[in-house]
Amino acid sequence: MKPLTKNMEQPFPHLFQAGRMRNLALKNRLIMAPMESNLAAEDGSVSDLMREYYRARAVGGIGMIIVEYTCVDRPLGLGGQPQLGLDDDALIASHAELVRAVHAAGSRICVQLFHAGRQTHPKFTSGRQPIAASAIPCPMYRKMPREMNAADMNHVLQKFREAAERAVKAGYDAVEIHGAHGYLPANFLSAASNQRSDEFGGSLANRQRFPLRIAEAVRQGAGDLPVIFRLSADEFVIGGTQIDEAMDTARRLEAIGVDAIHVSTGCHERIDRNVDPVWMPEGWRLPLARQIREAVSIPVIGVGVIRHPEVAEQAIAEGSADFIALGRALLADPEWPNKAAAGRTADIRPCTSCNWCVAQIGTGHTPVGCAENPRTGRETQPQPVFVGSRELAVVVGAGPGGIAASLTLDRAGYRVLLMERQAALAPGLLASGAAPKKDKFLWYRDYLAHKLRHSNVELRLGSMAGVADIAALSPALVVLATGSRDRELAGVDGLDLPLVKSAYAVLAGSDSIRQGPVVIYGAGEVGCEAAKFAAGKGFDVILATRSSDANALSRSTYLRIYREQFIATIRAYPNIRIELGAALRSVSPDAVHLERDGQEITWPAGQLLLAVGRLPNDDLSAGLEAAGISTLVVGDAVDVRRIGDAVHDAYWKIRDMTRRINPQGVAIESVDFL
Ligand SMILES: Cc1cc2nc3c(=O)[nH]c(=O)nc-3n(C[C@H](O)[C@H](O)[C@H](O)COP(=O)(O)OP(=O)(O)OC[C@H]3O[C@@H](n4cnc5c(N)ncnc54)[C@H](O)[C@@H]3O)c2cc1C
Ligand SMILES: Cc1cc2nc3c(=O)[nH]c(=O)nc-3n(C[C@H](O)[C@H](O)[C@H](O)COP(=O)(O)O)c2cc1C
Ligand code: SF4
Repeated sequence: MKPLTKNMEQPFPHLFQAGRMRNLALKNRLIMAPMESNLAAEDGSVSDLMREYYRARAVGGIGMIIVEYTCVDRPLGLGGQPQLGLDDDALIASHAELVRAVHAAGSRICVQLFHAGRQTHPKFTSGRQPIAASAIPCPMYRKMPREMNAADMNHVLQKFREAAERAVKAGYDAVEIHGAHGYLPANFLSAASNQRSDEFGGSLANRQRFPLRIAEAVRQGAGDLPVIFRLSADEFVIGGTQIDEAMDTARRLEAIGVDAIHVSTGCHERIDRNVDPVWMPEGWRLPLARQIREAVSIPVIGVGVIRHPEVAEQAIAEGSADFIALGRALLADPEWPNKAAAGRTADIRPCTSCNWCVAQIGTGHTPVGCAENPRTGRETQPQPVFVGSRELAVVVGAGPGGIAASLTLDRAGYRVLLMERQAALAPGLLASGAAPKKDKFLWYRDYLAHKLRHSNVELRLGSMAGVADIAALSPALVVLATGSRDRELAGVDGLDLPLVKSAYAVLAGSDSIRQGPVVIYGAGEVGCEAAKFAAGKGFDVILATRSSDANALSRSTYLRIYREQFIATIRAYPNIRIELGAALRSVSPDAVHLERDGQEITWPAGQLLLAVGRLPNDDLSAGLEAAGISTLVVGDAVDVRRIGDAVHDAYWKIRDMTRRINPQGVAIESVDFL
């Protein structure tokens, strides 16, 4: 690639310099990473909603969009449902419409060609047995695949080539082969999952043979379009692909005419290294991209937890990658590129890697969504409308739900008073971000504080709202976003002693740990995070739970693999001891007394932190209703859930209310105020 020059007008000169892949010019170095959205139509075509979802990202200034995994051979190659297809000429028209919409908005567009291999389930493949390099089940779905024979391979090669031909017909600017994350090409590349004894297994050269043939087939089908190969530079499984082999594969792909390498990591059973959890640091995979870049002379795309333009800029400037792919950052804020280009970095809604989006698609037919951006995956939904009355709306509770409600009401034309009993904004986000390596939640808190400062919302911190206080203000509307409270523990003596505290209060910063050793009772999310928090401060910690199942720790964490990895991070602390099957019976001034299997246990304790669950805090509803005040309840106050549920509750309930009040009202701008 050409050397980069510095343009002093542009805050991120490397990022916003034009780039090239084969003969395709891109206006900047930013690419949207492929992300399954569950927005495909049932027949595998591009739905109207999917088109709008991608169009919004193109409008936001991204150089090129890589459309999500698109199956080359349905149903056998499907990895989910609904999923896009490109295995039938009838599907070309809807892809062409998508291409036109994205081109009209000023971006390039590429499609990711996909075959699931063994990483699928008969519910997706219409009951057909998955095919794979070897008859070894994927550890996630645990369905025995059939080892592919020569006829299967020829069939798959033809399917990849034909899909590439259709991509050309649809007008795509590039095609990407999904050769990462354990799907069919990666399944052949990996010695952990390919144990064939023929010319397609064994040595690296043999394992590369079929994926290289796929790349050749796509190269043929794609004509003069750039062909990108996405690979996992490290699968993070024993015996799986690692960087040395990935570098060799990248060289061979270049030699047969592949035009760019997209450097991802992980596989199905290590989804935590593909869609990284909150504790993975920003840009952690870039050194792997850099090693691949040193092995080839074609462009390299770096991806994974890249959230700040500064990080992306530096990656290009220091030669770790030629292009940066943004995944979740664009779910959170489609305008990320435009805002970065304009130097408006504080306005970028920051993805926290909370993976609420993953939970959405993981639960079936729910469209992808973003915790912080209620319109992601819902782009065709009617917006809130302008009410414009300047009537008073009182919002109680300045957590994510209350702040989202306040900003939406402000934009809809209300006069908004936001009351928070604590001295700090969003204590719930402080609690969410308190444990080590969870500080991304504080990015979101800073962002919300910035948005509030630039709104007309009147924020009153340290202001406890009661029914009488609210009624005295005669508001037209009240939004209760009062969050949750600690569940009380019954039948335990000594809970009024000074060593007993609420784990939540400590994490939220309204209380502190005075001395160790620290016993934490309750090992749900709050207890586990309190243990890491206290251990991180150097205290000796006992994390005690009544449950005798170690795998039940932090039960609410999405997906088994995330929970397993989370538990591993707790076990890695030398100063945390996990005690299972122990029921708290009483507390004395410097000890706790528990019972396990009928035996009494006593541990010395400087502090006991209780974390036995949270309940909705909806105390004010009944009083407000009795006073005849119109009230909406949102977030944890309805049901203790996640940040995304609070933000969505607020936005959509207010949307419905404004449209009820003013059915003919003018829609407010999409979501940028939030
Ligand atoms: C340790 C911990 C870790 C978590 N980790 C995550 C995570 O990783 N990802 C995730 O999505 N979610 C996480 N959560 C959950 C998340 O914090 C909540 O779901 C979210 O904060 C709920 O938002 P909310 O606005 O409904 O309530 P809250 O954020 O709880 O806000 C309610 C606010 O109302 C205020 N309030 C209550 N009553 C009154 C009153 N009468 N007058 C004035 N103010 C009042 C409270 O002080 C509080 O600030 C975590 C929670 C905890 C405790
Ligand atoms: C909801 C979701 C769906 C994804 N689907 C795909 C996919 O279809 N194909 C793929 O190669 N990677 C997929 N990924 C991985 C992303 O492309 C990306 O590599 C990963 O999210 C890390 O980048 P990020 O931190 O910028 O999100 C998906 C990720 C998410 C969050
Ligand atoms: S839901 Fe969470 S992880 Fe997903 S894009 Fe939004 S902020 Fe990022």
